[in-house]
Amino acid sequence: MEVLNAIKTRWSNYKYKNKEIPKEVVEDILNCGRLAPSAKNRQPWYFVVTSGKTKTNIIKVMKDKAKNITNKSEMKRIGHSCSLLSTAKTIEKVPILVLVYRPDDIAWAKGDRLSIGACVENMCLRATELGIGSLWILDTIYVEKKIQEITHNENMELVCGLLLGYPDQKPRKKNRKKLRNIIKWQA
Ligand SMILES: Cc1cc2nc3c(=O)[nH]c(=O)nc-3n(C[C@H](O)[C@H](O)[C@H](O)COP(=O)(O)O)c2cc1C
Repeated sequence: MEVLNAIKTRWSNYKYKNKEIPKEVVEDILNCGRLAPSAKNRQPWYFVVTSGKTKTNIIKVMKDKAKNITNKSEMKRIGHSCSLLSTAKTIEKVPILVLVYRPDDIAWAKGDRLSIGACVENMCLRATELGIGSLWILDTIYVEKKIQEITHNENMELVCGLLLGYPDQKPRKKNRKKLRNIIKWQA
């Protein structure tokens, strides 16, 4: 598949078949993340591949948190259209949840997070090429401490998650701003 085609056909997948992904295929996708560029070549990513009981525990803490968001400032931070519960339900349907951690070094926060963005997009594009659906998720950050405990990564920052599974839905049309509205040419 050409890069352009992968870019155009990558989309967020919310429904997955009840079918395992072979370990070597998951590692192929993670390897494409590893090959991404990074600020000062720090390669700040560390992948925890969860499934089974560990994934179930993560879903539970996300659902518990969603039920207990009563505090007003927390509501404001998470937003009214809180997607924590719906994301937890999506994780239930997928065989693999990859957690992406980085060293908890404040001096490198911006560079590392940008680098992880490049890494995750590489993985999404490779997954697309292999016919595997993906969903990039941030909702795990609302229960970051609990997930750190579950995976024994208390000394690292949980940047985001990535769901991987065989898709069980058809691609949607992309909803994007027009190119002319997001470009300014300035000589
Ligand atoms: C950094 C990032 C975080 C995201 N977090 C979530 C999430 O927690 N839950 C979710 O359902 N979708 C999440 N998404 C998916 C976006 O909603 C989706 O990419 C966007 O609506 C565009 O749709 P498309 O990916 O199908 O093109 C996230 C996407 C990105 C890039």
